[in-house]
Amino acid sequence: MPDPRLGHVSTIEGERREFEGRLAVEEKRLRSLLAEIYGDHPGLPAALASTLDLVGASWRERSAELKDLDRRRSAQPDWFESNAMLGGVCYADLYAGGVPGLQERIPYFRELGLTYLHVMPPFRTPEGNSDGGYAVSSYRELNPELGTIDDLRALGEALRANGISLAVDFVFNHTASDHEWARRAAAGDPVYRDFYWMFDSREQPDRFEETTREIFPDDHPGSFVQLADGTWVWASFHSFQWDLNYSNPAVFRAMAGELLFLANLGVEVLRMDAVPFIWKQLGTSSENLPQAHLLLQAFNAVCRIAAPAMVFLSEAIVHPDDVLSYVRPDECQLSYNPLQMALTWEAMATRDVRMLQGALADRHRTPAGTAWVNYVRSHDDIGWTFADEDAARLGIDPFLHRRFLNDYYTGRFEGSFARGVAFQFNPRTGDSRVSGTTASLAGYESGDAGGPGRVLLAYSLALSTGGIPLIYLGDEVGQLNDYGQLEVEGREDDSRWVGRPVHPSRRYEERVDPSTPAGRLFGRMRWLIELRRRHGQFGGGDLVVLDTGNPRILGYLRPGAEGRPLLVLANFGDYPERVEPLALNRQAGRWADLVTDGVYDLRGGVTLAAHEFVWLVQEDVSPVG
Ligand code: GLC
Ligand code: GLC
Repeated sequence: MPDPRLGHVSTIEGERREFEGRLAVEEKRLRSLLAEIYGDHPGLPAALASTLDLVGASWRERSAELKDLDRRRSAQPDWFESNAMLGGVCYADLYAGGVPGLQERIPYFRELGLTYLHVMPPFRTPEGNSDGGYAVSSYRELNPELGTIDDLRALGEALRANGISLAVDFVFNHTASDHEWARRAAAGDPVYRDFYWMFDSREQPDRFEETTREIFPDDHPGSFVQLADGTWVWASFHSFQWDLNYSNPAVFRAMAGELLFLANLGVEVLRMDAVPFIWKQLGTSSENLPQAHLLLQAFNAVCRIAAPAMVFLSEAIVHPDDVLSYVRPDECQLSYNPLQMALTWEAMATRDVRMLQGALADRHRTPAGTAWVNYVRSHDDIGWTFADEDAARLGIDPFLHRRFLNDYYTGRFEGSFARGVAFQFNPRTGDSRVSGTTASLAGYESGDAGGPGRVLLAYSLALSTGGIPLIYLGDEVGQLNDYGQLEVEGREDDSRWVGRPVHPSRRYEERVDPSTPAGRLFGRMRWLIELRRRHGQFGGGDLVVLDTGNPRILGYLRPGAEGRPLLVLANFGDYPERVEPLALNRQAGRWADLVTDGVYDLRGGVTLAAHEFVWLVQEDVSPVG
C-alpha cells in the first residue's frame, strides 16, 4: 500500500525540482536580458535580486490547481493552436452587471463554445472617465461596482472548471494618475517621480515630441500633459494615464510583482496592452523600440519560472512588420491580427480581395509555437494599419485609400452600407479611425440586404484562417451600435463607446428562434463554430493562398491530416461570382461543402452567391470495380 503522506511529500519534492529546473534556465535568460536593457544602471542589482525573491515567493504561493495547470500546459505548449479554441470578449458590467454575473453566464459561454474569455479591465479606476478601465488605479483591487478580487479569482476557477481560460489585461504601459505610485510622484517623492516621465520644463518634452505620434489628439496634443504645479508628465493616451518609466529597473521589478499577482489569481492569457509604447528614447518615435522586446522577454522569463501556464497576448496595432516582431514563443505567444481584421473590412468596402489576399500570402505566417488571435472588431476603433508599400504594389495610394475607407465606414460615402462613427480625426495629419459594432458596420443598421451575409463572411474568415477566433460578445446575435453610451458622463468624447453596448437580452432570447434575425444569425454562427471544432484542418496556422482569378473571390487552402486539405472560397461581391475551372485545376474532383453539405465538381468551376463562402473538403475517392 503506498503511503498517501509519502505521495504528498514526493509531489512537493517533484514540484521543487520542476521549479528549480525552470529557474536554472530562465534565471540566466532574465539576467542577460536585464543586463542588455539596463547596462550598468546602479539600480539593476537590487532590482534583479528582488525580482528573483519575488518569483520564488510567488511560486510558493501558487495554488495546487494552478501548478497542475502549469504541468499540463508545459506538456502541451501548443494547446492554443487547437481547432477547439474560441475566444469571447466582453465588459463585466455591460455584459453581466459585474464579475459575479459573468459566472452566471457560463452556461451560455459553453453553449457558444468558448474556450477563452477576455474580461475587459475590471480593476479599480478613477471616477468618471477611465478609458473603459484602461486607467488602472490598482492592479490588486477591482472596481467596487464590478465586484471584488475574490470574485475574479472565483470566476477564473469556475471558467477553468468549464474548460474556459480567463484572459485579463495587463495595462503595463501606464497607470492611472491616481495610482498610489502616481500620487506619490505628484507629491514630489523622488523614488516615485522616477517611476514616470516627469519634467519641470518643456525642454525635454519638446524634444521628445519632435518625433512622437499623437494617439488621442482629441484629449491633448503631443505626448505630455501639464500638472497643476507645472510639471510635465508623459501621457501617450489620456491625460489621466501616465506612462511608466521602464528605463528605471525598479519599475520592471514593481510591475513583475503585479504581473505575478494576476498570474496567481488564475489568469491564463495576459493581454499585454499597448506594447509598442513601453520604451521611450529621444530622437525616435518611442514605439516598437528594441528594448520593448527585451522587456517583454524579461517579463516572459519571470512568468516561465513562476507561472508557466500563462501566455502573453500582444496588443500592437501598428505597421504589420512591427506587429509580427512581438510574436515569438519567448516573447508574446499570441498576438491580435489587426491586419486581417482591417483588410476584411477593406475587402468588403471595395469588393476586391487583392489586399487581403496579399496579406494572407505574405504576412500570415507566425513562428512555431505562436498563434494569431483573429478578430472582426474589438472594443477599440478600426485603424487602417496596412503597409503603405503593400498598397502601392497594387497601384493603390495609401493615403487616399485610408480616406476612402474612413468615408465609407462612417457612411459619408454615397451608397455605403456602413454606419460607423469617426474616431480621433486629426486635422493636422488627416488621420482618422472608425468605431462601431460588426452588425452596424456590415449593413444591418442601414437596412442593407447584405448585412447578415457580411457579418458571417467576416466571422467565417476569423474562424478559418488559422489562430484563435475571437468574438466580441453580442456580435453573434447581430447587436447594433448603442448611441446612448455617448450620453453617459465621461464617454461623450470617445466614439468607441457606440461599439460597447449593453448585453442585448432580447436578441439573446431570440437566438433560439430561427424566424428572428438574431436567431438566424446565431444559428449559422453556432454551426460554423461547430464545424471548426469538428475538423482538424482549422487548427494550427498554416495557410496557402489560392488565386481564384476573380478579384471578388478570396481563396485559400488549410492543410489537413492525411493530405485532405480544406479549401475556402469566399465571395466579397454583392452579386453572384464565379471561379473558372482553370483556377481550380489542381483541386479537380468532387468536393463537399461542410457548411451546406452541397457537393461541387470543381472541374466545372464554382459559382458563389453574394457574400457566400464554402468550406470544401475532397470527397473520398471510392475505389472503382
Ligand atoms: C489599448 C486599449 C485601448 C486603450 C489603450 C490605452 O489600446 O485597447 O482601449 O485606450 O490601450 O490603454
Ligand atoms: C492606437 C494605438 C493602439 C490602441 C488604439 C486605441 O491606435 O496604437 O494601441 O489600441 O490607439 O484607440
